[in-house]
Parts: sequence; structure tokens; C-alpha cells
Amino acid sequence: MDPRKAYDELIQKVRNLHYITSVRSLMVWDQRTYMPKKAAKFRGRQYAAIAEYAHSVITSREFVSLLEEAERGDFPPGSREAMNLYWLRRTYDRTVKVPVALRLDLIRKTTETEVVWREAKEKDDPSLVLPGLGEIIRLKREMAEYLGYETEPYDALLDDYEPGLRAKRVEEVFSYIRSRTVDLLRKVMDARESGKVPKRIEGRFPVIDQRRFHIFMLRKIGYDLEAGRLDETTHPFAVRITPGDVRITTRYKEDDVLDGIFSTLHEMGHAFYNMGLPEEWFGEPVGNAPSLAVHESQSRFWENVVGRSREFWMGFYPFLQAFLPTLYDYSLEDFLFAANDMKPSFIRIEADELTYNLHIILRFEIERDLINGKIEVKDLPDAWNSRFKEMFGIEPPTHREGFLQDIHWYSGSFGYFPTYTFGNVIAAQIRARIMEDMDLPSAVYDWDFASILSWLREKIHSHGALYLPEDLVKKATGEDPNPMYLMEYLQEKVDLFYS
Ligand code: CO
Repeated sequence: MDPRKAYDELIQKVRNLHYITSVRSLMVWDQRTYMPKKAAKFRGRQYAAIAEYAHSVITSREFVSLLEEAERGDFPPGSREAMNLYWLRRTYDRTVKVPVALRLDLIRKTTETEVVWREAKEKDDPSLVLPGLGEIIRLKREMAEYLGYETEPYDALLDDYEPGLRAKRVEEVFSYIRSRTVDLLRKVMDARESGKVPKRIEGRFPVIDQRRFHIFMLRKIGYDLEAGRLDETTHPFAVRITPGDVRITTRYKEDDVLDGIFSTLHEMGHAFYNMGLPEEWFGEPVGNAPSLAVHESQSRFWENVVGRSREFWMGFYPFLQAFLPTLYDYSLEDFLFAANDMKPSFIRIEADELTYNLHIILRFEIERDLINGKIEVKDLPDAWNSRFKEMFGIEPPTHREGFLQDIHWYSGSFGYFPTYTFGNVIAAQIRARIMEDMDLPSAVYDWDFASILSWLREKIHSHGALYLPEDLVKKATGEDPNPMYLMEYLQEKVDLFYS
């Protein structure tokens, strides 16, 4: 067959498959928002059927022969066609390298262990979950062997989330961040001891009024509510169902007005990315973001760089006060300082911008050692606590606030955590670069979010997965991901609030 014809047929197949899996995305949204409880049993079977179907398409004889045929074509390197074939080859190879039996074992084991993990966390009892976790790690190591790697098994797993990234490189970036963060944290702690501590924003903030503010804020920033929705859930997420349907979720706490706002801004950042991906590429591999870190850079950019800035709240705080009059008791400075509170804490998802990366570095070091066989699962609780103490100067009083806090490992996600901090690295780098082209603080203050968004659209969103993650960052900012920008940004923050 002619390579061009094979390519067209292949893409048609891939698009159709994507339309089906995008229906699954709608089901996931439903499950995590409004699904009735009793729907769970058959919902699981529905997902399984879709997954089985997707697997059968990708591993079919027809699929691979179309792929091979198309690969014989002379599509220019870097073209939409060439990159589609690159991603499809990658997916195909990674799919067939791992035996189906191993995948099924892993699904079974993680489904089981997630349930046990909930109980272990509730009872604060590591012994319940360590055997299951040990099994998962054994299976993940086996998986790494099938996938292949050059220097260490962990690389094979990391590559799943961040194509092309290697542990050695993560280590290099993280050690730079770690030492500087520890220095900054010392400075913050000294300032806190001499009385520089933000006032806690207390009061009762009715959910309905919070929601009205969130919608107001989203509209002003430019989130298109006719191409998306804002709903409530326990663990906020963003999901793209189709280009015209990109939904976000948030949560409202009656006694904490900040939590919901930053969740909404975070998910809005993900949504902007999803809305800015090229519509006509929907269903093709190049129509997605190239990696989780790049995606996370967009959410962190809106949540932290924009959302925690003085200029942002100079504009929005009077409105927030009008929606929630309790806040008339707090000045703009009180509110801003509270939004930029920095201090050591046990829980990652509640951590501030500065210490957040330490939480990630700790997890990276431990999961790498677990996968590479440098620490045994039975030693995990102690390893966590002693390393935590070394980094933060405090030791978790319970395992619930220690190694049992995140679901990731118990659901089999090893190699995922580093993407969060790489997202922060890229977000800060984008900030540095965007400031060469425009006066960012003024744009935020003037509610000229359209200019900011169009910069991001042009440099990041519109390219989809036409480039590998590092190449995209380089193209957008002029250099490879460089943690220097993140540390400069954090240094500025610390100077602003704690000196
Ligand atoms: Co995110």
C-alpha cells in the first residue's frame, strides 16, 4: 500500500478510537461529580470494555501493518505526520512490550491495594498495606525490565509520564532546587520567629457566595463557560472531552476561602491549555500536550504566578470582599500574605509554593530507591520519617501524615511525582520569558488576561505534541528547562513577604 494512503487510514482509525475514549472521559467526569453511588459496579465494567477494545485496536495486525507501511513514507522530520507516527510507534511499542498478563496483574493488585490503603490510612497502620505495596513494586520492576532502560529501572517508568526524561537529569535539577529551597526556608523561618506570620483568614464563607465569585473570576479571566463548566468534587480536576467541551471542577470549604480559589485557578490553567490545543488535530497524537510536566506548567502558571500575585488581588480583592463581606475584616495585605504563607508542613497538597518542591524531591528520592531496589518496602516508614526530618526539620507524628498520605504509589504510579516540580520549573521559566515580551504585572492588574493567554497559546498550546517536552520548552523560552528561574522567582517571593 502507498504510505500516504496507509497513513490516512491509520489516522482515521486512531481518531475513531479517540472518539470512543473521549466518551470515557465524559464518564469519568460524571463519576467524579454526579454519578449515583449504585452506578459504580457497572461503570467499572464499562471502563474495562472500553480499555479492552482500545487495546485490541492498537495491538491488531491491521494497525501495526498500517503503521509499518506509513513509516515507509518520506514525511518531513518534525511534520504533523512524522510526529503522529512517532507517538503512535511509541504507544505501540510500549503496549506490546509488556505482557497482557502482567498488565492485568497490576490492575488487579492496584485496585485491591487502593482499598487497603484507605483502611491503612484511616487506622494509621502500615502493616495493612506494605505487603500489597511490595507486590506492586515487584510488578513495576518487572514492567521496567520489559520496557527496557539504559541506566536504571526507574527510568523506564518515568518515561511513561515524561517522555525522554531520565532520573539522572531529575536528580541534577532537584539537587539545585533542594539546597536553595532549604536556604530560603531558613530565611522564612527566621522571619517568622521574629513575628512575620500572616494572619489566618477566618470566618464562615457560604458556598453559594464562593461559587458566585469563582464564576465571576473565571468570566473576567476569559474561561469560556459555553465551552466548559465549573462543578464540585472532592479532588479537583480538569478534563477535555472534546475541543468545545473542557470542564473544570473545584471544591468549596466553608471555613477556608483560599483553598477553593487556588483549586479553580489551577484547573482553569489546565483548561486553557486544553482549549488552546489545535482543534483540527483532535483525536491525533499531536493534538495532545506532550507531557504532564508541560500541562502542569500551565496550571501552576495561572494558580501561582498570576493567582498569587499582588496585582491579581489588587483587582479582584474588592470584588471578593463584596461577595464575601466577612473579608472586610481583612486588608488586601492580610489576604495576600495569607495566600503566600510559607512554612514546613506534613501534607503535600496543602504545602505552599516554596516547600511544595521539597515534598516532591522526597518522594522522588524514595520511589527511585524503591524501584531500583536500594530500599526495601519494610523500611519505607522509617526511611520516610528520617528523610522528612532531615529535609523539613520536623517528623510526621503519624504515618497518615507521612508515607500514607498520597494514593499514587498504591495505585501503581511510580515516576509521576517529578512532573509536578518540573511543571513549576517550566512555569517560572515561562514567566521570565513572557516578561521580556510584556509587562506581566500590569497586564494582570489591567485584567488584560487575553494578552497573556494569547502569548501562551502561540508559544505553547498551539503546538500540541508536535515537539517533545524539552524541545517545546526550548522553542517557547529559548532554553532547556532551567531551575534557576524557579529559584529566582521564589527568592523574589520570600524577599517580598519575609524580609
Ligand atoms: Co494539575
